[in-house]
Amino acid sequence: MSSQPQGPFEWKVLHENTPGKGAPEQKLRLGVLISGSGSNLQAIIDAIESNALPGVEIALVMSNVASAPGMQRALNHKLPVIYLPWRKVPVGAYLGEMNANEVQIAGLLQLFKVDLVVLAGFMRIFSAPFVERLGKRIINIHPALLPREGGAGEAYTLGDGTQIPALRGLHVVRAALDSGLKTTGSTVHYVTPEVDAGPVICQQEVSIEPGDTEEILQERLKSVEHHLIVEAIRQLSSL
Ligand code: GRF
Repeated sequence: MSSQPQGPFEWKVLHENTPGKGAPEQKLRLGVLISGSGSNLQAIIDAIESNALPGVEIALVMSNVASAPGMQRALNHKLPVIYLPWRKVPVGAYLGEMNANEVQIAGLLQLFKVDLVVLAGFMRIFSAPFVERLGKRIINIHPALLPREGGAGEAYTLGDGTQIPALRGLHVVRAALDSGLKTTGSTVHYVTPEVDAGPVICQQEVSIEPGDTEEILQERLKSVEHHLIVEAIRQLSSL
């Protein structure tokens, strides 16, 4: 695999140092971005610590919320953590370039030599220029089922052939309940400029039980996500 330097925001190639005689082990360095509880971050940490993700390390955890419990999880495991407030982007800002928040984040990703950005409950939307710079080095966990065929499209076909709407954006757990669905799920996908529409890496259906509240269903989805995110990272680290 090869890549061209991309101006001031350069990305090294995954595994560019081919392991060989005397070569230091090259690990896939993750930058995990969070805004909240960080249970998916915890799943990644646990997988790394139990050697279920050999060849992977967390280079940096970033949160745009100072009180995010996920920050403490990172500190508990002596990982570098940065709180970086997301400042309001001025109305009329030029959409063709990264905004000030993204420029800061890009600098930190480069400084910490991040290979793969994992959005694990990060509640901000990145601009097209930021996402395009990263190419396939940014993935997201979405608590709904996105179409298998590339992530785009309006419907997801369940294992039994039933079609359900592809739920995107915020509050999709609530939306699944409000739509009367019997099945929803979670998806790990590449991030593309179009929100929640990038190619699917892995996903799993989750049943909605009678009496489910948003909180109960969210927790059921998260317990599935904790496996999915580790599986997605494992796949990408072995490319
Ligand atoms: C997850 O449900 C994920 O699907 C969504 O945000 C939630 C993050 O949860 N994008 P946590 O902070 O990892 O516990």
